[in-house]
Amino acid sequence: MNIRSIILAAGQGTRMKSNLPKVLHPVLGRPMLQYALDTAARLSPAEPVVVVGHGAQQIQQAFDGKARFVLQEPQLGTGHAVQQAEPLLRGEADLVVVTYADMPLLTAETLQRVVQTQLSHSGPMTMLTLMVDDPRGFGRIVRGPDGGVLAIVEEAQATPEQRAIRELNVAVYCFAADWLWETLRRVPLSPKGEYYLTDVVGIAVADGLSVETQLLDDPEEGIGINTRIHLAEAAAIMRQRINQRWMLEGVTLIDPATTYIEPGVTIGRDTVIWPNTHLQGNTTIGEMCVVGPDTIIQNSRVGDCCRLFSSVLEGATLEENIKIGPYCHLRTGAYLAHGVHLGNFGEVKNSHLGPGTRMGHFSYIGDAEIGPNVNIGAGTITCNFDGVNKNHTEVAAGVFIGSDTMLVAPVKLGEGARTGAGAVVTKDIPPYTLAVGVPARKIRKLEKHD
Ligand code: UD1
Ligand code: CA
Repeated sequence: MNIRSIILAAGQGTRMKSNLPKVLHPVLGRPMLQYALDTAARLSPAEPVVVVGHGAQQIQQAFDGKARFVLQEPQLGTGHAVQQAEPLLRGEADLVVVTYADMPLLTAETLQRVVQTQLSHSGPMTMLTLMVDDPRGFGRIVRGPDGGVLAIVEEAQATPEQRAIRELNVAVYCFAADWLWETLRRVPLSPKGEYYLTDVVGIAVADGLSVETQLLDDPEEGIGINTRIHLAEAAAIMRQRINQRWMLEGVTLIDPATTYIEPGVTIGRDTVIWPNTHLQGNTTIGEMCVVGPDTIIQNSRVGDCCRLFSSVLEGATLEENIKIGPYCHLRTGAYLAHGVHLGNFGEVKNSHLGPGTRMGHFSYIGDAEIGPNVNIGAGTITCNFDGVNKNHTEVAAGVFIGSDTMLVAPVKLGEGARTGAGAVVTKDIPPYTLAVGVPARKIRKLEKHD
């Protein structure tokens, strides 16, 4: 059985009042369309066809190589939109599943159920429906006296009686492909000047064919995003789903309501997340960590048993048993080996800090290789930028950097070297040598145990 998906994404999304196409608006860090594509991918290995129109170029750029696109120009309604995919899919598919790109909460399990229902009967289509008390804005499912489906009526065309119907069209369908292509040609122009996909239901019934429905159990899955209010609602539900999943995996969330974990994140068991923590992008947190409060971690890897307190990490890598914060900023390429400790107001960028190295207060380390067990005194700065180039600093094992030292790169400090408080180091310091002053000068050789 060959199943292909069509995702409709050509509409303008007027109610978002945005310059960004609606389907590119992020929900928990990922564009809405990404969710529809991921769900479709779980249904069938074949690439889904995305119908684009408004903002087509921007959408295609954002998803270059991740989907097949077909242009709907002009946008003459959902039926017309599906028709645009026919040249790509005719003869390729037995079943066609159609979804709308603005429903990020829809699960692959639900799509599978719709497909299963379609496979279990002889009619040409199955659609997902939902019972709600207030179906405002949705197409209503009109049923006959025997309970069989007769039609979908859009709200604008519904009679007062039909408006009172509580069963609505979620807009997830599974069609017998060949029947769909033929039937779309027969869809009449609606009073609004569009060709509605929903009108194929009435045509099937008129032809004596039966239309099956599958009831959606969880109404949250059916939320379609039309406004920024819906966007926030959908994001909140998505967040709750993710948070519950991690709690069931053994992660403690002190306050799930203020914990923001994006879909690409993984967290080890017995880790505790304090409030107002944001775990974003492709982030991995190990076991038995304590993270937050007030911490933002993007695209970073954190090993086991780390304590991260009121800090920001972007593209950083941390081995195990590391303590940082409060108020540390680890930027791209920061690598902290096991046992590193960073106290308040530390910034590290594109630098490697060896095991056991400590940097307690107010320091900036950029473009540097710092060895193991180095003590970085309060206020130490790597002066890595000379206005043109970023220069490199090397600090070997066991170095003791005095408070307020300026390391004017490029510069190297040999193993066991020391600087006095306030030193401005412009020249390399040999191993086991003390240098002081501005600019720093060597004053004496050190005993190894000094
Ligand atoms: C549609 C359904 C309605 C259902 C509701 C569920 C129709 C006619 N109506 O109404 O029964 O209850 O969804 O949310 O299908 N699109 C295109 N090309 C077009 C027009 C729309 O690709 O020419 C896309 C939009 O980008 C969007 C989707 O189709 O992703 C739905 O369009 P929209 O105008 O939002 O339909 P609704 O009025 O919500
Ligand atoms: Ca809609």
